Amino acid sequence: MSNPSEAELIHVFKGIAFTTRSSPELLESLDTFDAREDDLLLVSYPKSGTHWLAGVITKLYNTQVTLTSPIEFGDISKLEELNKLSSKRIIPTHLDYNMLPPNFKNKKCKMIYLSRNPKDTAVSMYHYYRDNPNLPTIETWTAFLDLFLKGDVVCGSWFDHFLSWEEHENDKNILFLFYEDMKKDLPKTVKEISVFLGLNVNDSDIQDICKKSSFSEMKRDTEKENGDPSHTVCALTSNRKLIFRKGAVGDWKNHFTPKQNQRFEEIFNEKMKLSKM
Ligand code: A3P
Repeated sequence: MSNPSEAELIHVFKGIAFTTRSSPELLESLDTFDAREDDLLLVSYPKSGTHWLAGVITKLYNTQVTLTSPIEFGDISKLEELNKLSSKRIIPTHLDYNMLPPNFKNKKCKMIYLSRNPKDTAVSMYHYYRDNPNLPTIETWTAFLDLFLKGDVVCGSWFDHFLSWEEHENDKNILFLFYEDMKKDLPKTVKEISVFLGLNVNDSDIQDICKKSSFSEMKRDTEKENGDPSHTVCALTSNRKLIFRKGAVGDWKNHFTPKQNQRFEEIFNEKMKLSKM
């Protein structure tokens, strides 16, 4: 069987590329979504460490919580499905701030925005494109980097995504986290998350959560599972085995040529000139 064409895999909504796993009808109806005050949103650009963050957060609660699939994943029945959940909802999303259902903003729901060095994000996304049958075929790293820098990839431009959220970094209901900080000192980040969520978690539980959330533990747990189809927090795949690749900081150095790095820096500096990053 031949590979599905790009047109079969991708559609563009409000100028941003989505896979056909996010139906246009669902995206259209997001504005009507009824948020609840206690919803928690986990927001990220793809490949920023969303599964890692979700793994940590679900372990922090000792009450019943439901980690849903991403709000933008599925068809029009999705909103009804989320409405039916009676427990607290932890909802992942790769949407940029402008596309987020307004109800989450009006109700001041807590949101955690996780970001990662865009060079490592690009490399991780390149491998994801190569391994993930829901994404178009990419021939070379050079070709992918070009698309990434132009924002011609699923979920749009990394820069636009980050900037749309960064504008809200002082909102009290939004916590900003970085993948690199989690790698450097996970217990510190976990403590920060628990304070933000108003959870009382002691140091020994934090140590235990960090141990269970290490890259090797999470990868091993995933390999033991039998592929629950609703088990990813990324709208781009249901196959958790595609998620745990290397889990390192600085892998970009194994991919970027000096010239590519220079071009990336130039574009980064231009796009991010108003950012505090
Ligand atoms: P790499 O492809 O660089 O390895 P997401 O969950 O948003 O799809 O992000 C996936 C990236 O997070 C992958 O990066 C993956 O390996 C990394 N990751 C997942 N779990 C991790 C963990 N426990 N510790 C460190 N990195 C992790």
